[in-house]
Amino acid sequence: MLRFDGKVAIITGAGHGLGRSHALLLAERGARVVVNDLGGALDGTGASAGPAAEVVETIRKNGGEAVANTDNVATPEGAKAIVQSAVDAFGRVDIVVNNAGILRDKSFGKMTVEEFDAVLAVHVRGSYLVSQAAYPYLKEQGYGRIVNTSSPAGLFGNFGQANYSTAKMGLVGLTKTLAIEGARSGIKANAIAPIAWTRMTEALLPAEFEAKFTAERVSALVAFLAHESCEASGEVFSVGGGKVARVFVAEGPGWKTDDLSPEAIADNWDSIMVEQPYVLSAADSMKAML
Ligand code: NAI
Repeated sequence: MLRFDGKVAIITGAGHGLGRSHALLLAERGARVVVNDLGGALDGTGASAGPAAEVVETIRKNGGEAVANTDNVATPEGAKAIVQSAVDAFGRVDIVVNNAGILRDKSFGKMTVEEFDAVLAVHVRGSYLVSQAAYPYLKEQGYGRIVNTSSPAGLFGNFGQANYSTAKMGLVGLTKTLAIEGARSGIKANAIAPIAWTRMTEALLPAEFEAKFTAERVSALVAFLAHESCEASGEVFSVGGGKVARVFVAEGPGWKTDDLSPEAIADNWDSIMVEQPYVLSAADSMKAML
């Protein structure tokens, strides 16, 4: 059994849905947990201490250890306070699960700059800020696990979610660079792209998805990625309904010439679009250009 005894985990946005389920699972397996949640509405407006407090109460009732935190992940002060609450309560931090999220869906032509910025602030800025506030502790102890929450909407695009998909693909870049920079300090960073029945998706998913697409089926992957036995880093996994799959950014073999022109590109389009054999790193991409 993968256990987390002695480990301290910060789960952002853990008052509802996926974060709540991640917090319950890690706590059940011995982690001491900071349950962060601003407690606002799905669009990020409002605030309430209720959701984080309820999750902490449930964890304690089950015999686990947790503290509630209601700071905003999207401000530097909030992110610092979240990490500080782990240090104050438990003396350390080992795991950061960046899960907090909001939606401000609008078709692209109608989206306002406020709607764009608000979504990027919680998902991208929030994940950056909380990870960075925890980073000195992880580096110092030579150990850490970061799990970021991307989305199929970011990886593949989705109507009405230009802000959200930009944010969620941004998290893939953040994850990959964190994995590269953290490697020498024993810090692994991975991202998940989940599908689960929560307040965020209940109006969008068919009713029959509720029983299959449970939050618990996503939390199993989060626990695996947060565990010290996990060797993966810089990876992205699609997860939902009991299925887990690697998602990867790859570059096809391409086509090259010393005489590249717009016409040559048009004439060789089919070769340019070939997918295999592919490469998976910037170094291999560069090598193939030589
Ligand atoms: P949810 O709405 O149930 O949970 C999100 C939580 O984040 C809420 O409890 C909310 O209060 C909290 N939160 C929002 N802004 C915050 C802030 N600034 N600071 C602290 N907490 C804040 O939604 P769900 O579905 O559990 O989403 C969790 C994550 O999974 C999100 O990042 C979401 O984008 C992502 N996701 C969910 C999918 C799904 O199928 N449910 C699909 C793809 C991604």
